[in-house]
Amino acid sequence: MDSIWTRDVRMSKFPPLEGDARTDVLIVGGGIAGVLCAHCLHQAGVDCLLVEGDRIGSGVTLGTTAKITAQHGLMAGRLIAALGQDRARLYVGANLEAVEEYRRLCAGLECGFQEAESFVYSRDDRELIEREVADLHRLGCPASFQRELELPFPVAGAARVPGQARFHPLKFLKEISRGLNIREGTFVRSVERAAGGLMARTDRGTVTADRVVVATHFPFLDRRGGYFLKMYQERSYVLALRGAEPVEGMYRDADEKGLSVRSAGEYLLLGGGGHRTGKPTGGWRPLREAAHRWWPGAETEDFWATQDCMTLDGVPYVGSYGRRTERLYVITGFRKWGMTSAMAAAQVLTAQLTGREHPAQGLFSPQRHVPIPALAANGMEAAADFAFPTFHRCPHLGCALRWNRAEHTWDCPCHGSRFTRDGRLLDGPAQEGL
Ligand code: FES
Repeated sequence: MDSIWTRDVRMSKFPPLEGDARTDVLIVGGGIAGVLCAHCLHQAGVDCLLVEGDRIGSGVTLGTTAKITAQHGLMAGRLIAALGQDRARLYVGANLEAVEEYRRLCAGLECGFQEAESFVYSRDDRELIEREVADLHRLGCPASFQRELELPFPVAGAARVPGQARFHPLKFLKEISRGLNIREGTFVRSVERAAGGLMARTDRGTVTADRVVVATHFPFLDRRGGYFLKMYQERSYVLALRGAEPVEGMYRDADEKGLSVRSAGEYLLLGGGGHRTGKPTGGWRPLREAAHRWWPGAETEDFWATQDCMTLDGVPYVGSYGRRTERLYVITGFRKWGMTSAMAAAQVLTAQLTGREHPAQGLFSPQRHVPIPALAANGMEAAADFAFPTFHRCPHLGCALRWNRAEHTWDCPCHGSRFTRDGRLLDGPAQEGL
């Protein structure tokens, strides 16, 4: 995958692992979550090694629209209903704190950090937005109602959250990865118990570690944690328009099917079209139609798709990998809010690994109670996809792959693995091609 973020930055190269190594904390996965976790642990004085199968920032981090915001779509009412007010406040608080941490960290970095207001708008439902603003206040999030926006189409109103930001994700990764102990081109095959801790087997040698953090987008160790039961993946689409009027704010439709809009330098980024991976999709078509209608003079300079891990209660999984997996940890499930969630996750996990208590630790715990109806619905979805007739079965757990006409790939609706036409693995949790 490629996106506009690769155009104006040359990422530093890190050597592969050579032979065997030993470290206190091993992080598997060099996306924004893994690198931030390595950075926070390094700052805390912890001996830490990060290994990445490809290059850092080369996976789903490339597909982000890089909004740094605690406003995760139309969220306040949903969070209160799912978690109760106290835990919903914790969620919002952890993300507001993550925005502050970015602000502090980016002050000395060349990463295109810019302050921006965040908005969730509705095209036709003013009351929905008024309720959202009131609920955001209940959760301790500064918000106000705004009637008019700078967008080219009319809205009924928007919930405005000030003091948020945007940046260039690869420039940021390049800056914070300086001085970290990173090995690229090193693919981890397994993690097992060993004398004095855990041992990761890679294709270039072994790493023995006191503790291991799995930050591989969808957790790749299947037999522990049950992530294939309590998570799935969604795909969504982005267009980069040239020649469109830039916008100051960052916008997201309250309707999940609507548009997200932000400027990035000379480009206007339009996002949307989200659907469960492997399900029928219009691909970029709805975005192209919206661009044609609302930004008629603009041209599409680039387009790409992105993939997000969705938890069943909308809160990431951060903490112990499974109930009986001492020393093994996980970071995953950021939904469509990977930048801010990755920072919140890094802070929660660093506290845990350095013996401190973080207020959101219980909320983010992968061992928390998952709503049974959501679990059952996800299981039934997977069972139906397992039984579906097909040309190809997924090497992960055998579900029926569906042809994705927009991207010309074989996609798995169960947990989101993807393959090229000729069977090469694009996205896990599968660990091998067809
Ligand atoms: Fe799990 Fe395909 S990704 S069965």
